[in-house]
Amino acid sequence: MTNVPTPLLLANVGQLLTLRSRTPRPRRGASLSELGISEDAAVLCIGGKIVSVGKTKDALRDAWIKKHRRQITEIDCRGRVVLPGFVDSHTHPVFTQPRLIDFEKRIAGASYEEIAEAGGGIRSSIDGVRKANKPALSEKVLATFRDMAAHGTTTVEAKSGYGLDFASEIKSLEAMRSTARQWPGTVVPTFLGAHTVPPEYRDRRQAYLDLVCNEMMPAVAKRKLAQFADVFCDRGAFSADEAGQILRAAREHKLALRAHLGQLSETRLEPFLRFNPVSLDHMDYVNDADLPALARSDTVATLVPGANYFLGLSRYPRARQFIEAGVAVALATDYNPGSSPTLSMPMAMSLACTHMKMSPAEAIAAATINGAWALRLADRKGSIEPGKDADLAVFEVKDYREIAYWFGVNHCVLTILNGVVQGAFCA
Ligand code: NIG
Ligand code: FE
Repeated sequence: MTNVPTPLLLANVGQLLTLRSRTPRPRRGASLSELGISEDAAVLCIGGKIVSVGKTKDALRDAWIKKHRRQITEIDCRGRVVLPGFVDSHTHPVFTQPRLIDFEKRIAGASYEEIAEAGGGIRSSIDGVRKANKPALSEKVLATFRDMAAHGTTTVEAKSGYGLDFASEIKSLEAMRSTARQWPGTVVPTFLGAHTVPPEYRDRRQAYLDLVCNEMMPAVAKRKLAQFADVFCDRGAFSADEAGQILRAAREHKLALRAHLGQLSETRLEPFLRFNPVSLDHMDYVNDADLPALARSDTVATLVPGANYFLGLSRYPRARQFIEAGVAVALATDYNPGSSPTLSMPMAMSLACTHMKMSPAEAIAAATINGAWALRLADRKGSIEPGKDADLAVFEVKDYREIAYWFGVNHCVLTILNGVVQGAFCA
């Protein structure tokens, strides 16, 4: 966005969850519950940045604020809860259609893997993306990002991965780039050419891997279309060896690394940790013996319980063991048409509380500051501190625990994205 946002003063905040940290590290163990709450608080934002955080009464007495009162847009929060905008660090927004046939098949008893083997799943979203033109894809993604912002999200990691040929993967990433320019929030693009083997390469897997590594990856890197490369490593997708090829190529092209791991079956972490990935995602099946190494590493475990919920699974990632072992845990929606058609971070948080036994405070930190760590953006995102980007969400609740408590309803009434206000409430 080229327009410089007007100065904003949020006043009378009932609970301001600052998420300020004593040390610049991902939150682990007990520190995951520290929200840095300030009551009767105020936040001043200028030029898309947070400039000061304090008490409302002090802000209203401040000489600079008094002098510039007329240029400042004042938002009276009337006791509502304000927190850092959510950082949704795992989404797949570039698709055209919902997968309603798969949905019904699963209800009738078929599993995610059975549907994929029968030609449904990821493969059934390919056609739509290949046929769509770039403006149509971009329009669709923009509508999604606006909806995300309406639920409090201000930063989104967004993957390609439903084109799965050279032109369609590039088109997906270019569509995202054009969307990012029209949306005031922050978009982190990820190249996921290694989502699955497309049907035309069914019997030539290595040829597809070569295409991803030797043609798509260099083009994506050269055109700076993505910051990350991702790979879906699991039964029915890519093996650990194949994923290694993808990660090596990505590293050569200076893309930062992340991977889908352990969603359907266990894969040992050690060969992956050697690549120093920024995040390993899903992690439903992780060997206990791998937890200490994961905890010692800088890699964040991004848990996406929306996928477990939507696939009707009774098993969820073992967040408690992760947290107790000292693993840095983030939460994301995994927004996609096959396994997690929700873009609501509060919904992901609610699932984390009810099914993974994370406390509401842990869920908030995992959805904000640790999400920022999972995107290497913690210097700008994920907390309300002077110098950080002005990304804030206002919730129509009195107590932060209500955000995860009232599931299935959206209580986000106002979102500020890099200083730009979306939404309105009656003061
Ligand atoms: O994160 N696991 C791989 N990718 C997505 C599902 C994609 C799809 O089914 O369209 C996920 O769950
Ligand atoms: Fe995913």
